[in-house]
Amino acid sequence: MTLNLEKHLSTRAKVLQGSLGKQTSVPIAGLINLGSGTPDFVPPVEVFDAMQEALSSNRVQYTTWTGIPELRKAIAEKLKRDNHVEYDYENELIVTSGAQEALMITLMTLLDPGDNALIPSPHYDEYTRDTKILGGELIPVATTPESNFTIDVADLEAAITPRTKAIVIVSPNNPTGTVLSREKLIEIGALAQKYDLIIVSDEIYEYYVFDGSEHVSMASLPGMRERTITMNSFSKSFGMTGLRLGYIAAPAALIESMLPFHHAMMICANVVTQYGGLAAISQSRDWFVDVLKEYDRRRQSWMTLLESIGIGYSKPQGAYYIFVDIRSTGLTSAAFVKRAREEAKLVFQPGTIGGGAGEGFIRGAMTTASPAFEEGLERFKAFIQKLKS
Ligand SMILES: Cc1ncc(COP(=O)(O)O)c(C=O)c1O
Repeated sequence: MTLNLEKHLSTRAKVLQGSLGKQTSVPIAGLINLGSGTPDFVPPVEVFDAMQEALSSNRVQYTTWTGIPELRKAIAEKLKRDNHVEYDYENELIVTSGAQEALMITLMTLLDPGDNALIPSPHYDEYTRDTKILGGELIPVATTPESNFTIDVADLEAAITPRTKAIVIVSPNNPTGTVLSREKLIEIGALAQKYDLIIVSDEIYEYYVFDGSEHVSMASLPGMRERTITMNSFSKSFGMTGLRLGYIAAPAALIESMLPFHHAMMICANVVTQYGGLAAISQSRDWFVDVLKEYDRRRQSWMTLLESIGIGYSKPQGAYYIFVDIRSTGLTSAAFVKRAREEAKLVFQPGTIGGGAGEGFIRGAMTTASPAFEEGLERFKAFIQKLKS
């Protein structure tokens, strides 16, 4: 009997078919990725030393499910110091395999089939897949270029249904670079309190803020600690995307409910990586000053170029993306990305990847090292000129 794949695939698997697109591991000569989410710097040397030390001390067994206590303690200290919110490292933290795991187990803990979570859109696309896996729904609440893609709280309120469990906020945002102000977060928090909702606060770009923008943690605001699940990661803060290390901070009862999902998928985060993370988080962030300066230089280069060729953009206040307005080319986001790849050998993400509100935009990034970055901008300029001629 030949295998009937249709019969064997779960509905879940069928719903997700094609949702990731294709990834090729064969590098294509000459292609420049000007929209990548992977930072180009290497973590501090202490991270490598600590991982080597862990390996040479044969630290290769499971750790406590929630992560090694030294790391949880260091995370709790960091949350107190940088985010002004206190957590008990024994009961209120889980070390995860990246924020990706953190957001999946968070949504698994909150959503039954038919439940929904709201998210300002354009948004990070993974949230869509995760809610689909759970039979839930992610309700994108559109933001607009006119407000620099900042959510209007009245729109969030209008989208609440009896099945709404949570509001997801990602600030600084991927892909728009929007940073939510303290006042805006207070308004969103008040809404969560009014309707008894949980806030899922994805803060993985917290250290990337420009022009004096301030990153504020939702859990630090009055009355919000008890209803906020904060997730964060070493991926962007330390340039450790492939090491897969993140964490969740939340009140003990929520953490306890999440633990079976974490255990089912991971048992614990990679032990060697945890020691690397401990070294990373235990030292001063002085080394990051130069990284941020370089990312800001690239941000300025992007903005200068776009202004010189008459292409609009949403001014990035944070993260390391620039949301470029390509409506004047007459192309859709998808068509633009396809043609940029074929005709200019440039890779971007379509703005629509995180919801329809991103139509007419593409995601550029500051993550490409020189001289490919400058070469990429030159190609972008020539491509736009060709499209407009
Ligand atoms: C907003 C957001 N959340 C979560 C993730 C996943 O990050 P991690 O590498 O920590 O799993 C990403 C990755 O790009 C992201 O942009």
